[in-house]
Amino acid sequence: MPIGDEVLSSFTQKVRQERTYAERKLKVGIIGTGWIAEAHVESYLRQPDVEIVALADLIDGKAEAFARRYGLEAARCYPDHASMLAAETLDAVSVCTYNVTHAECAIDALRAGVHVLLEKPMCVTLDEAADIMRAEKASGKILTVGFQPRMDENMQMIRKIVQSGALGEVYYIQTGGGRRRGIPNSTFIEKKTAGIGALGDIGCYSLDMVLNAIGYPRPLTATGYTSNFFGTSTEYQKPEDAARFDVDDFAAAFIRLEGNIMLDFRISWAMHLDTPGDTVILGRKGALRIPSTECWNGTVGGPMTLYHDVAGEQVETVIPVLESHGPGLFDRKIRSFLDAIIAGGTAPVPTSQILYNQAILDAIARSAALGREVEIVIPNI
Ligand SMILES: NC(=O)c1ccc[n+]([C@@H]2O[C@H](COP(=O)([O-])OP(=O)(O)OC[C@H]3O[C@@H](n4cnc5c(N)ncnc54)[C@H](O)[C@@H]3O)[C@@H](O)[C@H]2O)c1
Repeated sequence: MPIGDEVLSSFTQKVRQERTYAERKLKVGIIGTGWIAEAHVESYLRQPDVEIVALADLIDGKAEAFARRYGLEAARCYPDHASMLAAETLDAVSVCTYNVTHAECAIDALRAGVHVLLEKPMCVTLDEAADIMRAEKASGKILTVGFQPRMDENMQMIRKIVQSGALGEVYYIQTGGGRRRGIPNSTFIEKKTAGIGALGDIGCYSLDMVLNAIGYPRPLTATGYTSNFFGTSTEYQKPEDAARFDVDDFAAAFIRLEGNIMLDFRISWAMHLDTPGDTVILGRKGALRIPSTECWNGTVGGPMTLYHDVAGEQVETVIPVLESHGPGLFDRKIRSFLDAIIAGGTAPVPTSQILYNQAILDAIARSAALGREVEIVIPNI
């Protein structure tokens, strides 16, 4: 078929699909009915053009109980994602499983021709992330990663400031965050379910905040450190939680990025300190200070400050905290995914960017295990 016909045929297909979506609701399935699935389902239920038709969870009776709690009695329940994908014709799924099954669930859904909203972190290893991207490419479907802070006005402002050129060429970033005490429990604290600890749980957000602002340059090397002094101690944890804790509760790293940019990163679920510090982005023309932030909620810890010189004088411009208007961040995350499907558009938080985020998490974990700097080799997709 000549190229022109191919383009025309895919255009016709797209128009046909758009009509279809206008005439009916999108059929959505939920994979994993734990804690974060609640936020997904509550948001989907607020969307007029969605019906939740299926739920899956490995734990016996969990999906059924979840369906009853949300009045989803008409939804069909399955004992795992694979049986759900085999039995249902879905438009989209939310993958709300713990980290170690992200890749398997996302890849199987894409192979079944279903669009995917994949919770963060994208997965556990760089190899898994590459496999997800390959499946996405082969399927022609959208996979977006669940970074709701991307939808926040203040997080967007950080990117706007950097992209405006106000900082000039960026050469050094310090970022991270976390808590003095705040170790989650449940499935977050074991390798067999979470794969990685604070590094993946909240580290991925801090990385996304700054890497998205500077345009996601390719990571080249990392020197990483992880520890778990608090998670494994009965002084700070219940004995049963300390006994099964085998992920990190603190991580730090120096990451070299393309463009000769140094990224200095630290993240904590627990430490003897209130905060590991503000985020700072240093450029040749200016610098931005973002007060220590729980960026995973899209919040900044106070007004940001832009440091620059005006007519030879050193000045500081305060960027006030922007008020959020309209739907909450989770609703925006869900809506942006649905709108991309309907419009036949691109993923709001694309794997092409988050691959680099995952590459950094992977490299920090590898470097910490080896006790030396490691190279980051991005696989061909
Ligand atoms: N975006 C956010 O703000 C946010 C907040 C919390 C958690 N999360 C992410 O959401 C994910 C889940 O966290 P959670 O707290 O809901 O965990 P959870 O342990 O409460 O729930 C996960 C559920 O997935 C099920 N599951 C695992 N593999 C499955 C499979 N193959 N098929 C069907 N079900 C499967 C488990 O049985 C479990 O019930 C994690 O990756 C976490 O990082 C995101």
